[in-house]
Amino acid sequence: MKVLNFGSLNIDLVYGVSHHARTGETLTTRDFKRHMGGKGLNQSVALCRAGAEVYHAGCVGGDGVFLRDYLRDSGVNVDQVQVIDEATGHAVIQVNSEGDNCILLYPGANRCQTKESMEKALECFGEGDLLLMQNETNGLKEMMHAAREKGMRIALNPSPIDDTLLTLPMELVDYFILNEIEGAALSGETEPERIVEALLKKYPQAHIVLTLGGAGSLYARGDVRIRQPIFKVKAVDTTGAGDTFTGYFLASQLRGEDAAQSLRMAAAAAAIEVTRPGAAQAIPALDEVNSWIVTK
Ligand code: RIB
Repeated sequence: MKVLNFGSLNIDLVYGVSHHARTGETLTTRDFKRHMGGKGLNQSVALCRAGAEVYHAGCVGGDGVFLRDYLRDSGVNVDQVQVIDEATGHAVIQVNSEGDNCILLYPGANRCQTKESMEKALECFGEGDLLLMQNETNGLKEMMHAAREKGMRIALNPSPIDDTLLTLPMELVDYFILNEIEGAALSGETEPERIVEALLKKYPQAHIVLTLGGAGSLYARGDVRIRQPIFKVKAVDTTGAGDTFTGYFLASQLRGEDAAQSLRMAAAAAAIEVTRPGAAQAIPALDEVNSWIVTK
């Protein structure tokens, strides 16, 4: 069972700040770092470090070849990562003293997928394989229909949320992995329990995984409801925590583990990730998560 991650690759420009800049404020930053990122890239790295067989399809410009190389060196198949004549996507990220972030995204090359590149990306996949997508690329609708025709399962992390998501054939999605803001936008509800119930009503076949920041996560499917608290740690940088959670949750599901075990692995991996700066580079390997979790 292979995973095709049709996802973004970004250069993360990360600024350490005392607080997130307010309207009209000029804020001098504490420090600056350039990291590998993008929800797509981070999730591919997380899946791979969690033991899944991962193929990434995406686009970078000449300034982003190092992102493709990083993915390849991390063990991800990058045959379908194209280098095109566009600027690589980038994110301007403010990380405050509590480790919380605030992100401005420029999609750049991530929004340059064509009909041909999408067909090519799907060529080697079929029945039972998993298509994973976030909302930092174009072409989600086309990929969902084409993947379903091939009998693939579909996982969607609808992040960042915007109106184009409301036009997608969500009934094709097998796994929704989303936070409260995204859940509220897709369900029209604001309370976690009501969000998952509303989503299950609309998409009864789906696994719903709602992440709730410090309140942990909530899983719902059929009659099953599972709450997973966070593992408490001192956060340095929360960027990429959701991506780590997504990658670890799905890798565990692909191994055939039950939802409770998948949530626990995902929560542990995300907890380790936030204790280190950066996104992809902070994602732990499976051995580390396994040894850490037995101490909890
Ligand atoms: O989820 C974190 C990611 O969001 C960052 O790496 C940044 O690139 C944005 O896409």
